[in-house]
Amino acid sequence: MDKLTLKDIDLKNKKVLVRVDFNVPLNEDLSISDDTRIKASLDTINYLLKNNCSIILMSHLGRPKGKKDKNLSLKNAAKRLSILLKHEVKFADDAIGKDTENFKKNLKPKEILLLENLRFHPEEEKPKDDNKFAEELAKGCDIYVNDAFGSSHRKHSSIFQITNFFKNRAIEGFLLEKEVDFLYKAIQDPKRPFYAIIGGKKISTKIGVLNSLSEIVDAIFIGGAMSSTFFKAMGIDVASSLVEDDFLDEAKKVLEKFKIKKVPIYLPIDVLLAKDIKEETETKIVESDKTFLKNYQAVDIGPKTISDWEKKLKLAKTIFWNGPLGIFEIDKFSLGTNKIAKIISDIDAVKIVGGGDSVAAINKLHLEKKFTHLSTGGGASLEFIEFKSLPGVEALSDQ
Ligand code: 3PG
Repeated sequence: MDKLTLKDIDLKNKKVLVRVDFNVPLNEDLSISDDTRIKASLDTINYLLKNNCSIILMSHLGRPKGKKDKNLSLKNAAKRLSILLKHEVKFADDAIGKDTENFKKNLKPKEILLLENLRFHPEEEKPKDDNKFAEELAKGCDIYVNDAFGSSHRKHSSIFQITNFFKNRAIEGFLLEKEVDFLYKAIQDPKRPFYAIIGGKKISTKIGVLNSLSEIVDAIFIGGAMSSTFFKAMGIDVASSLVEDDFLDEAKKVLEKFKIKKVPIYLPIDVLLAKDIKEETETKIVESDKTFLKNYQAVDIGPKTISDWEKKLKLAKTIFWNGPLGIFEIDKFSLGTNKIAKIISDIDAVKIVGGGDSVAAINKLHLEKKFTHLSTGGGASLEFIEFKSLPGVEALSDQ
């Protein structure tokens, strides 16, 4: 069912509560290292400003486990947003409470207020039956906008329960609308061949999406540490490589599922092994059907894999990529991720990338303009592919 969007509702002079996803990566000094997610919210905020709205923004940052943690304050996000918008952004020290309530009440048209990290309150992630926390967030606001695609797979108070307090007034922001449209088109009616590249550390978080992808794609390429779990499931001795031993059976089932569906699953044909996870370490390349070297672990896909995947990927008309193919934060182990990013960027296809790490790799290489869509949600885009919708989207008002 189509959801109400910003264009469907009279916003003039309204007090609008917007859930954004300002869960941005931070440097050691707590400054923001990548503001992609803040920039992605600008279209919605500017549109609300044009409509003379008073704007109350709320977000989480990190995982403070329901307690106040000054290292995870959104104060710097307010400053960065203010610079990007060239507009003052006020900041409330708490997401709820008397002071915040007054702040919200006195907010004038075209004024913007960002609330402190929602996750300083345990009720954000673990909503209580009485929904009191969501009710407090909603207090004094006329309209609720969800523009936090990256968090919409979470059934949290500010994403899900809050919509109970905005009957026919809980709407999609521009970013949410755009993200959902791109992913929906890609899975409903992709240009073929449709190839998925899945990397990252753990297969445990990706079993569901791998099974769903077996129904949609024409081939899948698997890199990153999760490929070691598949190798071990296939009986290969992967030495010290990172393996999720509890998921070996699941990995076998995934391999079996792809076989039954006759969808090729391409694992690396060679891998880069390293003795330690640091720049100055000994490395070796081995064919991945051979026993890995003792005390070494897989840290990247190898050169043969890169050229083999290049030939195959060039045929694609749609590519979905989630997760780096090695420990790309360390230069010595970043070749696979960087080369595949460059190869995809030159392919004439619909190219969608989901996930903070893969998007960060693309940004670092300044290739962002050569991709069709860089999603702001890693977990959210995977869950969207798995379930074809997200709780945070479902909860919004129908058109
Ligand atoms: C993300 O970074 O994927 C979203 O902001 C959700 O964060 P979470 O995984 O901590 O819920």
